[in-house]
Amino acid sequence: MKLHVVENISGKSSLLVLGLWEDDLLFYRGFSEELNSEIQGCVKSMRCVFHFGDSLVTKVTGKPYTKVMVMGMGKKQDFTLERVRKMMGKIVKSARGLKLFTLEMTIVEMLRGLFSDEELGRAAAEGCELANYDFVKYLSTEKKEKKRLVEEISFGWHGKSSVALERGIGQGKIIASATNFTKDLVNEPASVATPSFVEKVAREVAKNKKLSLSVLNKEELERQGFGAMVGVSRGSAQPPKLLVLKYEPVKSGKCTALVGKGITFDSGGYNLKPTGGIEDMKSDMSGAAAVLATLRACAELGIQRNVIGVMPLCENMIGGCAQKPGDIVKAFNGKTIEIRNTDAEGRLILADALSYTEARYKPEVMVDIATLTGACVIALGYYASGLVSKDINLISGLTIAGQKSGDRVWALPFYEEYQDAMDGTISDLRNMSSKGKGYEAGAIHGGVFLSKFVDKVKWAHIDIAGPAFLMEESDYLQRGGTGAGVRVLTYWLMGM
Ligand code: BES
Ligand code: MN
Ligand code: ZN
Repeated sequence: MKLHVVENISGKSSLLVLGLWEDDLLFYRGFSEELNSEIQGCVKSMRCVFHFGDSLVTKVTGKPYTKVMVMGMGKKQDFTLERVRKMMGKIVKSARGLKLFTLEMTIVEMLRGLFSDEELGRAAAEGCELANYDFVKYLSTEKKEKKRLVEEISFGWHGKSSVALERGIGQGKIIASATNFTKDLVNEPASVATPSFVEKVAREVAKNKKLSLSVLNKEELERQGFGAMVGVSRGSAQPPKLLVLKYEPVKSGKCTALVGKGITFDSGGYNLKPTGGIEDMKSDMSGAAAVLATLRACAELGIQRNVIGVMPLCENMIGGCAQKPGDIVKAFNGKTIEIRNTDAEGRLILADALSYTEARYKPEVMVDIATLTGACVIALGYYASGLVSKDINLISGLTIAGQKSGDRVWALPFYEEYQDAMDGTISDLRNMSSKGKGYEAGAIHGGVFLSKFVDKVKWAHIDIAGPAFLMEESDYLQRGGTGAGVRVLTYWLMGM
């Protein structure tokens, strides 16, 4: 989609979008008496009162547009960057519904001063691009045509330099397109998106963005002692892979490591998932997909920070060779783990990936991101990811990045009392809590387990199990993969 900033809107688009503050309902008197009376009529009859998101679509005589949309913006003091994205999302989705594919609007200009121009441009572009997405690959042409995308949007921006706004728009486009790329990877069926497929996609990213990619294959993983990860992959016909993608723009030894869970399908293993819990488990590689896309975004944005992305990839399946409950495996760092539940597999592959990353790359900071626990969905639902860390600066940095980007993370408690819940009896650790029924504080205990594979480095864990994959569309996202994690990590790496 093309996004333009123009001094004056031209009348060449099919849809004009006008913003209306709830407490300034007479704003369009001068623009068109006809439109003004329609607005007043709506308000009087309470058909639409122009609260945030209330909209009116009409035709205005004497104006060159096929349709004019008046979009309620609510109250100025309630406006947030997330509302910028939501508003753009609503507009783009309604335009697509109306089959109008070229838009002009003055809304961005009306929001001037509420945020920096750069933040405003970034959020606006993100809202537009994220809403202008559908996974149509497997639809017939006829059905595909019904999902046409908006082609062009012009933002009016009168009488002030647009340099910062356009810079923000450029950033927003990069971040949203990386997010949409993640959605594509997550939406791809597990029969296609195997570990080898993700490797192929990562190779393309590496080639196009001049990143370096190294891959550890099954034999290498076995030889180097990735016992926890190899254990998970044993039931699968697809060989496991550990990808390491590096973006190194600065010449210093320091780097930030991102580690993403890449279970390309989670059947649960012998603790098989039931009907109702298994259907969307192709999404269990959302963490790895977010890491891959974040590295792509870093390269496109030219972020001046070395970042490495680590993606352990495998399937969690059943079969004659599969791991069984009660098995004991030895992780990369030498600790032994009793498999109490084969469905707690994400922590196993991350355990090896985390200790390997710290030992091999000595990062300054390490953040892992994973669809780790159903418990996190129960705790926080779909509007925030869980955050676990012992480092107060990391918690606050990531929380603020989440707040600004709308890809929110919320810190869970990580008290001393939780820390022995994953200790084993006949092994160093167990992969399911020994406290109570084993399910209480599941998201936190997942974090406790991972923390045993982090030695000295500053570390945070983000559980995206809720926000990564949606059953219902939202203002600017769709059903299915959402690309959760890409925005919060990219904003955080950018320093916002
Ligand atoms: N991939 C799942 C977590 C998940 C559940 C993500 C629902 C998205 C939606 C993970 O591997 C898992 O199965 N976790 C178990 C852990 C338990 C056995 C300790 C869970 O949450 O039930
Ligand atoms: Mn599982
Ligand atoms: Zn899983």
